[in-house]
Amino acid sequence: MPSRTPYIAANWKMHKTVAEAGEFVDALLPQIAATQSDVVICPPFTALTPVVERRYGTAVKVAAQNMHEEDSGAFTGEVSAAMLAELDVEAVVLGHSERRQLFGETDEALARKVPAALAAGLEPILCVGETEEARDAERTKAVLERQLQADLAEVEDAKLSGVVIAYEPIWAIGTGRTATPEQAQEACAFIRDVLRERGAAADDVRILYGGSVKPANAAELLGQPDIDGALVGGASLDPGDFAAIVKAAG
Ligand code: PGA
Repeated sequence: MPSRTPYIAANWKMHKTVAEAGEFVDALLPQIAATQSDVVICPPFTALTPVVERRYGTAVKVAAQNMHEEDSGAFTGEVSAAMLAELDVEAVVLGHSERRQLFGETDEALARKVPAALAAGLEPILCVGETEEARDAERTKAVLERQLQADLAEVEDAKLSGVVIAYEPIWAIGTGRTATPEQAQEACAFIRDVLRERGAAADDVRILYGGSVKPANAAELLGQPDIDGALVGGASLDPGDFAAIVKAAG
């Protein structure tokens, strides 16, 4: 059996000031001191450094929620991979459905962002997932395959195992409607198959489920063979709830 270290990420979205981020980390750290999992906090840009400074000496990693594919340039409002790496940020969320749907993030941009993140030493957390309409039309696998092929097109096969994939069905994000463990497992297993066909060491890739993960449903989702972790939105804003999800990973 492959052994993949569980990966539990808190996607705060546009929540938490610097003061609130500090309070969260101070409350979280004692509760997860014994975890063997990778615990990743994804604050807004403004709170990256305060979280980085508080987590030194712990197992917690820090991820940004977005970055631009270019190293520098006239891109008002954007930040580059090098700017994040300089802050000791270790990872970056790419292709979240809110960025795709609300901010026009394209597969073409993602095809450049994923290798740019890897080149800067950042671990990409690439989000993929289908709309409700696509699921109802039984196009889930087609959507996932298309996103994976497009977004990972420029990544060398040997580097694919350095990418974390988050399966996030759009109909389950922030809706309280979680995919069933069977639906989530089927999609994550399919993602692993697509990566294997791409030439990845697919058994080494961490594949997360995201979409209304809570303390009450985390253990069952995380118990599925191809689900290696969770990308948690709403329930990651409370340190007690997020700690409970981390503990559910074992
Ligand atoms: P949710 O968000 O847990 O609030 O559904 C998940 C995500 O968007 O990553």
